[in-house]
Amino acid sequence: MQPQFIIIHHQVAPFVAHIQLNRPKELNALNLELMGELRDALKALDADDQVRAIVLSGNEKAFAAGADIKQMAGKTAIDMYNIDQFSTWDTIKKIKKPIIAAVSGFALGGGCELTMLCDMIVASETARFGQPEIKLGVIPGAGGTQRLTRAVGKALAMEMVLTGRFITAHEAHKAGLINRVVPTELFLSEAIKLAAEVASMSPIAIKMAKEAVLKAFDSTLEEGLHFERKNFYLLFASEDQKEGMQAFMEKRTPDFKGR
Ligand code: CAA
Repeated sequence: MQPQFIIIHHQVAPFVAHIQLNRPKELNALNLELMGELRDALKALDADDQVRAIVLSGNEKAFAAGADIKQMAGKTAIDMYNIDQFSTWDTIKKIKKPIIAAVSGFALGGGCELTMLCDMIVASETARFGQPEIKLGVIPGAGGTQRLTRAVGKALAMEMVLTGRFITAHEAHKAGLINRVVPTELFLSEAIKLAAEVASMSPIAIKMAKEAVLKAFDSTLEEGLHFERKNFYLLFASEDQKEGMQAFMEKRTPDFKGR
């Protein structure tokens, strides 16, 4: 069935797919249906050999203005518990291929949290990041208090979460939340360019590298180092390692096959 709230573009660059959030009238508010479609699309792309990196964007005005407030407003705690909307996010967290967020305009609440679930963030000069849940009488629920704090540190995270203040793309860049700020007309093409660069590497090494970097967030240094070393050794079982090192010695570009 065709998705209703997202658009999937294949091969926007070699081995790069692009998913666009597409509820423009609601500033891409993340209702349950959109998140379900996003989860299913990401799972399908994760299993597709023709995809090595994924770009996730909204439109120029909004990446996403958060979870759908209208859908949540009347719910009871037990409704929320039963719906368990964040289990979708747990699945997205397990996607092995790198996801690059291309952000322009609002990335608020769940929208900001979704960018932080991605592996890198390219933003336009007009991008605004914020966790305004406090103004609704709640707090971030999809990782905002945790991932934001790890990314920008306690002082700024606490301020954003307690006051709901939006930060600009430049402030987000300075704080280490995002990778780069580009002119608005380039936010998508620059994200695709970055994804294409990643997609030109060995896809097995890329997946193991992502896994190892993410391990740093929920392990001790000792456990993380052990995990990294295992993945490093394991990559010597791949044809791509032989090809990469051979190509270096022959002074040519490697041709990675993902084997
Ligand atoms: N949920 C549902 N609808 C939303 C929405 C959201 N999060 N954000 C915007 N919309 C809707 C608006 O209701 C409006 O619809 P109508 O035309 O039917 O009234 C439409 O999108 C356009 O929005 P605005 O008219 O408000 O546009 P604006 O340019 O004046 O303001 C804005 C833009 C500052 C982003 C404002 O829309 C806003 O504050 N949105 C809510 C942001 C927010 O609080 N996000 C957190 C949600 S809770 C959450 O995400 C929990 C979590 O941790 C997962």
